[in-house]
Amino acid sequence: MRKKVSVIGAGHVGEVTAFKIAEKELADVVLLDIIEDMPIGKGLDMLEGGPVGSYDSKITGTNTYEDTAGSDIVVITAGIPRKPGMSRDELVGTNFGIVKNVTQNVVKHSPDCMLLIVCNPLDAMAYTAFKTSGFPKNRVFGMAGILDTTRYRTFIASEIGVSVDNIQALVLGGHGDTMVPIVRYTTISGIPLNHFLPQDKIDAIVERTRKGGGEIVKYLKTGSAYYAPSLAVVEMVESIIKDKKKILPCAAYLEGEYGINDLYFGVPVKLGTGGVEEIITIDLNDDEKKAITESEAAVRIVIDLLKF
Ligand code: NAI
Ligand code: 2OP
Repeated sequence: MRKKVSVIGAGHVGEVTAFKIAEKELADVVLLDIIEDMPIGKGLDMLEGGPVGSYDSKITGTNTYEDTAGSDIVVITAGIPRKPGMSRDELVGTNFGIVKNVTQNVVKHSPDCMLLIVCNPLDAMAYTAFKTSGFPKNRVFGMAGILDTTRYRTFIASEIGVSVDNIQALVLGGHGDTMVPIVRYTTISGIPLNHFLPQDKIDAIVERTRKGGGEIVKYLKTGSAYYAPSLAVVEMVESIIKDKKKILPCAAYLEGEYGINDLYFGVPVKLGTGGVEEIITIDLNDDEKKAITESEAAVRIVIDLLKF
C-alpha cells in the first residue's frame, strides 16, 4: 500500500509540493485548503496529469480534514507569506493561530503522523506544532536549512563554474538573516571552498544566502519563493518514506545539543522512517559558535512572543 502524505495549504508551496510528491510516486497525496473548492480543482488537475506524466499516485483536493485521516506525513504550509519589506518574524501574529488550529485538526485525524512544518517564522511555527500536538520530538520538524543550503550551493556553483552536484554544504541556525552558513565545512567534491574562492567572494555569497528569501520576495512582490522550498520539502519526505537516512539541515527540537535548550533550530539531522532519528553535533570554532548564539537569540525573541 502506498504511503499517504497530506499537504495543508494549497497555495504556492503547497501545490508544488503536492505535485512533486505525486509525480515521484512517493505517496498518495491529499491537498487541503480553507478556500472553498480551490484545492479540489488543483487536486483534480494534478490527478488528470497522471497518464501523460506517468504516475499512478492518487491525489485528492479537499476542504475537510476527514480526508487527511491516517496520513503518514502531514506538511503544513498554511499561512501567509511575507511581502517586500517584511521580515519572516512579522508573520508570527497571523501564522501562530493558523498553525495551532491546523495542528489540532491534523492530530485528531492522524494521531501517528509526522508533522513537517513549512510556514514562517519557521522555527517558531515548528515549536508551535510541537507544543500543540504533544507529539514526540522525532515526529515534528521544520524545513528551512535545506532551502538555505540549496541557495548557498547554487551561488557557489555558479561563482566557481562547476556542477551544483559537486557542492557539499550546511547552513545551520534559525531561518532568518542570522542563519549560519558553515564555510569551513563547505567542500567542492571534498576540496575546501577556500581553495577556489578568495575570502571576499565567500563573504559575498554568505551574505547573499542570508538574504536569499528577501531577494525573491523583492522580485515577486506579492509572495515568497516556492519552487526551491517545495523541492526541499520533497527531499525530506523522500528521505523519510524511503528510509534513506539522509543527513540534512532541518529545524529540530534541541535539548542541550549545541548548548541550546527548548528551541527549534536548524541543525544537521538524520531523517528516516523514524523521522528525526539523530541530531548530528559538529565541532564549531569560536566564530561559528558566536554566530550560532546570535541566531539562537533571534529565534528565541520570536518564540517568546508565542502565547499558548
Ligand atoms: P500562499 O499564500 O501561496 O499559500 C498559503 C495557503 O494557505 C493559502 O492558499 C491559504 O488559503 C491557506 N491557508 C490559510 N489559512 C489556512 C488554514 N487555516 N487552513 C488551511 N489553509 C489555510 O503562501 P505560500 O507561498 O505557499 O507560503 C506558505 C507559508 O510557507 C508562508 O508562511 C511562507 O512564509 C512559508 N514558507 C516557508 C519557507 C521555509 O523555508 N520554511 C519557504 C517558503 C514559504
Ligand atoms: C524563503 O526563505 C519564504 O522563508 C522563505 O524564501
